[in-house]
Formats: sequence, C-alpha cells, structure tokens
Amino acid sequence: MARNELIEKTLADAMEYARTFLHTGKVATYIPELAKGDPDRLGACIITTDGEVYHAGDWRQEFTIQSISKTITLIMALQTVGYEKVFSKVGVEPTGDAFNSLVRLETKNTHPLNPMINAGAIATADCCMDSKDPYGGFLALTRKLCRRDTIQLDGAVFESEKKAGMRNRSMAYLMRGDNILEHDAEEVVDLYFWMCSLSVNAEDLANYALVLSNNGVDPRSGVKLVEDWIVRIVKTLMVTCGLYDASGEFAMKIGIPAKSGVGGGIMGTVERKMGLAVFNPALDPKGNSVGAYRVLEYLSHYLGLHYFSGSGCAV
Ligand code: DON
Repeated sequence: MARNELIEKTLADAMEYARTFLHTGKVATYIPELAKGDPDRLGACIITTDGEVYHAGDWRQEFTIQSISKTITLIMALQTVGYEKVFSKVGVEPTGDAFNSLVRLETKNTHPLNPMINAGAIATADCCMDSKDPYGGFLALTRKLCRRDTIQLDGAVFESEKKAGMRNRSMAYLMRGDNILEHDAEEVVDLYFWMCSLSVNAEDLANYALVLSNNGVDPRSGVKLVEDWIVRIVKTLMVTCGLYDASGEFAMKIGIPAKSGVGGGIMGTVERKMGLAVFNPALDPKGNSVGAYRVLEYLSHYLGLHYFSGSGCAV
C-alpha cells in the first residue's frame, strides 16, 4: 500500500474535530509535575503494517507514559515469572472503579482485579522484581517496543510521583500484608513509579502499538519481540480494562484495543493494520485524555476501525 490519502485526510480532520473538545478537560494535578502540562497540546501518529508513518500536530512533544506502561509491565512480568504466577496474584476482570481505587482490595478479595489498574500493576511490578535487572530490563524492553534507543526517565515526574504517591503506597502495603507482593512494598512502588515516568512521544507509542497489532512482530524488521500468547493477553486486557471505568463505553463506541495514561497518551492497536497513539494532556474526570479520545473516536468512525465494524475497514 502506498501512502494513503484517506488516512492523511481523516487524521487531519480528526485533529480539527478533537480540538473543539479540549476545553472540557483538565490536566492531572494530583502529581504536581503533571500540572505543568499544556491542555492545548494535541499530537498523533499512525503507523501502518506496511511501514507508512502519518504524523499530526504535536507528535514530537514528549510526555510521561504513565499507565500505558502497565501493558509493558505485564509483558515483562509474564516473560519473567510466567502465566501461573502472574495470574495467581492478579485477576483479569474489569472493575468499574477509578484507576487508583483501593476499595476492591478489601471488599472483593485481596487480589487486584486486573493488571491495568494501579493495584494490579503494582502486583505485576512485583513479579518484574524477580528479573535480574528490573530497571534496565524494563527500559530495554520499552526502547525495543517503541523502536527508540534514546527513551529516558523524566526525573522530575518520577520524584513528583514518589512524593505524591500515598494511595499507591497504601495499596502496596495492603498487598504486602496479604502476601501478594513478595518484595519490599517501598521498593515495588518505586519501580512502579519509575515505569510510569519514562518519557515518550506519540510516534514511540504508535511503534509499540504496531508491534502489538502484528502479533508481536515488528513488520519493518521481521523481528519477533513479544510471544503470541502474551500479545493475546495484553490486547484482551486493553479491550476490557484499558480505559479504566470508561472501558465499556470506549469498546462500544470506538472498538480499538487501547490503553490510556494520565500523562495524556492513549495508544491503540488495530489488528494487522496499524498502531496509533494520540497525546493531549487535558483529561476527563475518569483520567482519560479528552483530545486523544476524540481523535480515536473520529478515526474509528471514518476509517471503519471498530473491531466489529459491519461495513469493514476503509483502509
Ligand atoms: O499511579 C499513578 O497515579 C500514575 N503513575 C499512573 C496512573 C495513570 O496513568 C492512570 N491513568 N489514567
């Protein structure tokens, strides 16, 4: 497929459409360093399986990966300790609660309900601590998936998260008390905060999403980066839990396996077709980016990207 004018035009129109909603969102303030984000920034990138790259707006702007890292933490946990151990600590059911909720750790059972909420990602980060080099290994995996060797930590956000992260610490201590965490609670949350604080741009996340869309193989190099069974698990959880308590609505209206983060990113993967990522720091009350949501909504509608699109994909 040569450069596709329909994708180019639809992406430009999607940006226009999304801009009209930006005023309805607010940047995250519970991590003070994130409050510095500019709610008017909007950037996007689409990369198709034939290697064409489509950019729009502030796609070069870096932002912290935040909860999108939860998908990479899950990959690393499964690669490090395997299926049985990971899913003895964390479930696979949506919660309907906010991403930082503690309530189910007490009332449902002691295990976090899925790896895409904070409690679940802290449990999978605990599994990553079994690796020889949890920090180096995670950075190397992220760089490989995003196809950029210069991805680095945003140290200011990391320090800010550590200072502000009392709810996450509470979850870690509860889970340590229930023997779900096997390592020191402080050490596990530090790793979790660090994973959330890597600095990426829309193109990095579109590269990663492309690998997921192509069954774990980078279509440009032909290199297999993630095992089939792990890709299947990650994409399934992106469908059911990727946008927290907005996951059902997103699945129904947009129908793209996706993961959001409070840094303003949403990454989406369209089976065997493309990886996409959109960035805008204005968040809705559930912590999902307003601009990114709207760009994906428009693209899904006009390019027929919904996984149950009756009339088929237009590209
Ligand atoms: O745990 C936190 O608060 C953040 N580091 C990550 C949360 C996040 O991105 C939730 N996303 N919508």
